[in-house]
Amino acid sequence: MKIVILIFLAYWSTLTLASENILVKLSPTEEKTLTNIGNKAATSVSQLLMKTMVADIKSVGVAEAARGWSKSVNLINNTADSFNLGMKIRRPTYQYRNPVNKPDDLDKVALDFFLSKESEDSKYFARKVAGKNGYRYLYYKPMYVTQKCLLCHSENMADDVKAVLDEKYPNDLSRDLKLAALRALIRVELPESAIK
Ligand code: HEC
Repeated sequence: MKIVILIFLAYWSTLTLASENILVKLSPTEEKTLTNIGNKAATSVSQLLMKTMVADIKSVGVAEAARGWSKSVNLINNTADSFNLGMKIRRPTYQYRNPVNKPDDLDKVALDFFLSKESEDSKYFARKVAGKNGYRYLYYKPMYVTQKCLLCHSENMADDVKAVLDEKYPNDLSRDLKLAALRALIRVELPESAIK
């Protein structure tokens, strides 16, 4: 009898855990509002990061720019806060350097979508997911590897850059990126109050 109860409990908890994380398609109005805000946020993040990175490389060189780049997380969080909507932004990727960007189960669905043929010509992936306080809305925009990224994310990095990365990110998974490949997603998360 105990075993039956245990099996039932295990089954029940897997079901409820799984159902907490089901990505639900959006109504056309929800999709319009979410993609509008999501795209604005993702675009400001990309532009701010690029502008700051170029300025940093110019003023202190590639290796020191790499050393100071953990500030990118603050730049992203500040951008999210500036919308005053309870927004959160992350950059999930399978090739993470900073473990805060390790993908969760939802991110993996979005990453797999962009890594598959299914995503052809798709500019974004938008869904909602049931959470403790109503739905949470997720907007993902893909980011691809350009020439500049290879300075700090490829096998051909300069020795001084490698040395900084060895020291700061011993478990780095982003040292062998290929030009034009998917680098990461910009994930914009919003509470229900921001959409309805
Ligand atoms: C000057 C070196 C440098 C250059 C150039 C650079 N990066 Fe990075 N990148 C880093 C460092 C260092 C981190 C880890 C930052 C941290 O601690 O959060 C990082 C992290 C990231 C992350 C977060 C995901 C992760 O791996 O943790 C993304 C996405 C990313 N870079 C994309 C790019 C793209 C796209 C380009 C080219 C446009 C680029 N990077 C160019 C140094 C660089």
